[in-house]
Amino acid sequence: MSRQKIQRILVLACVALVALLSVQLVWLNKAYNAQERAFNHSVQVALTSVSDQLLTKAGKENLTSAEPVQQVASNFFVAELNADVDPALASQLLQQELAKRQLHDRYEFGLYNSLDDTLMFGKYIAAPQRQLATDKAPVIRHEVAGAVPMYNLAVVFPGKTSFILKEMEFWWYSTGALLLVVLFFAYTMFQILREKRLAELKTDFINNLTHELQTPITNIGLASEVLRKRSETLSPDRLTRYHDLIYSENERLRAQVERVLQMATLERQELALKKETIDLHALLEETGQNLTPRLQQRAGHLRLDLQATNPLIHADGLHVANALYSLLDNAEKYSAQAPEIEVSTQNTDQGILISIRDRGIGIKQEFQKFLFDKFYRVPQGNVHNVKGFGLGLSYVKAIMEAHHGQVTVESTEQQGTCFRLVLPVR
Ligand SMILES: Nc1ncnc2c1ncn2[C@@H]1O[C@H](COP(=O)(O)OP(=O)(O)O)[C@@H](O)[C@H]1O
Ligand SMILES: [Mg+2]
Repeated sequence: MSRQKIQRILVLACVALVALLSVQLVWLNKAYNAQERAFNHSVQVALTSVSDQLLTKAGKENLTSAEPVQQVASNFFVAELNADVDPALASQLLQQELAKRQLHDRYEFGLYNSLDDTLMFGKYIAAPQRQLATDKAPVIRHEVAGAVPMYNLAVVFPGKTSFILKEMEFWWYSTGALLLVVLFFAYTMFQILREKRLAELKTDFINNLTHELQTPITNIGLASEVLRKRSETLSPDRLTRYHDLIYSENERLRAQVERVLQMATLERQELALKKETIDLHALLEETGQNLTPRLQQRAGHLRLDLQATNPLIHADGLHVANALYSLLDNAEKYSAQAPEIEVSTQNTDQGILISIRDRGIGIKQEFQKFLFDKFYRVPQGNVHNVKGFGLGLSYVKAIMEAHHGQVTVESTEQQGTCFRLVLPVR
């Protein structure tokens, strides 16, 4: 798939998902409103019924005002009775009527003096405990002596919103399912993008590999051609030069093939480590020496500052040496001027710490998180003046992990880079 195609799919799918989510939101809102209306209606019918019964009891005709039950606020209902009402009876009737309509929510109810709106009687009924405490006589706070009390009935549902939300169970399941779909989609997209990136890196790698393998093959081919056709006429000096060329180019080829094979082995997780006790300092000195010819060519320096008091580790010497060489090789390759490399060791709580620091071109912050990915090379426009496969650091990381160690990087562009390895000591 081309990058554009993926992008188009991504955009279309996002639009579809946003539309789907909006529709769901609209429906959620509608459902909530419908539930709320049903709730209000039930409460009003219940309160009207309670009022009628209370009024009949008090010897009055049915409700006088046109709108007997009023919804003062979203969860606050008032029935204007203007009658002498028995609080216990009111409480009991309310209980019955609400239960009849499946309104098992907690509520508070109160009787107000209709003249001055003072609370005469109040009770809180919790949702689960639907029983009225009949033993406690209702408290009448004050009564104007001689006057016939005139009460209004008020009911508050403090948990109305959560009650309604709970009633919307089905909607939560469907919203949950939709969110799952969104998550699944995001995950799929993430995987596709990752695969895409890997595929691109692999293409780069193959182009790179072809080039890297072709050079020595061509050189060997040319040299052997000369030897085959004109070996009698060549001076011993030129002969040696051609032999040396073939030998060194063959070495290069072998090293490269080995590297690729190494990586393939790592991929199949068949890395069999031959662990033994090795002296890390000796290993560092030896590896450093391998780099010396290249450093001399570029007037560079490698400084070893080996401070660790206990340099013994239990490790596979060959792999660790390869990993160290990879880092030194990078430090040399990615220095624009004469390479200045500094290697230091130190014992820490976690193990032995090895720092490999250069004053090279550095790595931008944004690329640092990809460094240890297989085939990854920091993009340098279209010019790749430094050859490589992008395998070195992923190999380093794999080897460190196989030894229960770790590798971290710290780098500033144009200033230099420092790789830190930590290996457990023996
Ligand atoms: N010391 C360093 N200084 C600057 N860039 C580095 C350094 N080491 C690694 N890099 C960057 O990280 C990339 C990955 O390194 P590596 O895995 O060794 O691959 P390779 O060296 O084959 O390109 C390199 O292509 C380079 O861009
Ligand atoms: Mg490298």
